[in-house]
Amino acid sequence: MEVTRPDRPPPNVPAHPPPVSRAKSRPPPPAPSPATPATGLGFITQALTAPASPAESALRPLSFADFSGQPKTVERLKVMVGAAKRRGEALNHVLLSGPPGLGKTTLAFILGHELGRNVRITSGPVIEKAGDLAGLLTNLEEGDILFIDEIHRIPKTVEEYLYSAMEDFRLDIMIDQGPNARSVRLSIPRFTLVGATTRSGLLTAPLRSRFTLNTRLDYYDRPTLEGIVRRSCGLLQVELDDGGAREIAARARGTPRIANNLVNFVRDYASEKAQGRITQPVAAAALELLEIDAAGLDEMDKRVLRLMAENYQGGPVGLGTIAIAVGEEAETLEEVHEPFLIQEGYLARTAQGRVLTPKGYHAIGLPPARAGQPTLL
Ligand SMILES: Nc1ncnc2c1ncn2[C@@H]1O[C@H](COP(=O)(O)OP(=O)(O)O)[C@@H](O)[C@H]1O
Ligand SMILES: [Mg+2]
Repeated sequence: MEVTRPDRPPPNVPAHPPPVSRAKSRPPPPAPSPATPATGLGFITQALTAPASPAESALRPLSFADFSGQPKTVERLKVMVGAAKRRGEALNHVLLSGPPGLGKTTLAFILGHELGRNVRITSGPVIEKAGDLAGLLTNLEEGDILFIDEIHRIPKTVEEYLYSAMEDFRLDIMIDQGPNARSVRLSIPRFTLVGATTRSGLLTAPLRSRFTLNTRLDYYDRPTLEGIVRRSCGLLQVELDDGGAREIAARARGTPRIANNLVNFVRDYASEKAQGRITQPVAAAALELLEIDAAGLDEMDKRVLRLMAENYQGGPVGLGTIAIAVGEEAETLEEVHEPFLIQEGYLARTAQGRVLTPKGYHAIGLPPARAGQPTLL
């Protein structure tokens, strides 16, 4: 497997924007220190936004056989892989969407493995100009997979070149300027684009329509997560009983990446305090220490819920307002925290803003507000 990035931009070109660039109109929240400890506030955010650590990569399933859950997506991909192999052709383009940590990158690697092809990785914001894209595409071999993570953040000017690359396997690039300007046609090997996005809604229709398969990953159910926790403990040679597996799975927010991060922490905790054995009480105590509660909510989730209850009578509140008040990037809240809170019914999204549900009040130990109910006086 190779990891490639386009050439760095020349010094006069500004480096690509930091991960969050849309929230310009408000003061920057406190910068997260790179040395954020893996405990307390921010564990979930850290787990879901930091690049994969070597420990995490070691747990990555390499084939469909190792990849549990997501039955619909896996079935669709298997059909496509089988057909591509039988015809000896490149796999059709695939778009994987869904919240962070559910297995998009893992599936891109699995596709490469199952097809016996290279996977080259890049990400939307890194491809700044058409030349970057041309560099990536012309270096591919027939049948290779180009994985573009965060494909919704690809610059619009580059995106248009991608259309002809995906459709006709050619690029028409303009070179020179003024009277000398001319277009050069580059043909590129038949390749497979695998795009990943946490925000499929931000993809333009023309780009989306060029993927043969557009499939969404969902949060994992408890039994599947328990299986993932068992598999990870097996690979790490950690002793784990059923209660331990259940406890970690219950607090993992339906997300394998969080499950694996919790396994790593609980494993350390168990080796310090429990002769290395992960049981239900050991897992529960370790995760209390991380301030991840029995339902998988962390301090940031609770801050959001408390803010909405105490300062805004349960809403509706705008995302930007919530972000400033809790000191987190709006984009992080929207991609990391909110999908889970909404999926589990703590929050609802309305046209006016976010609204706290009775379950949301319950999670922070408050009675539901009676906002909106008619009063007699
Ligand atoms: N279905 C799965 N079975 C087992 N482990 C998984 C599965 N999906 C993801 N993982 C684990 O979770 C981690 C994060 O997955 P990743 O593919 O990086 O998520 P995404 O790209 O969607 O953010 C991987 O390192 C892998 O170990
Ligand atoms: Mg990824």
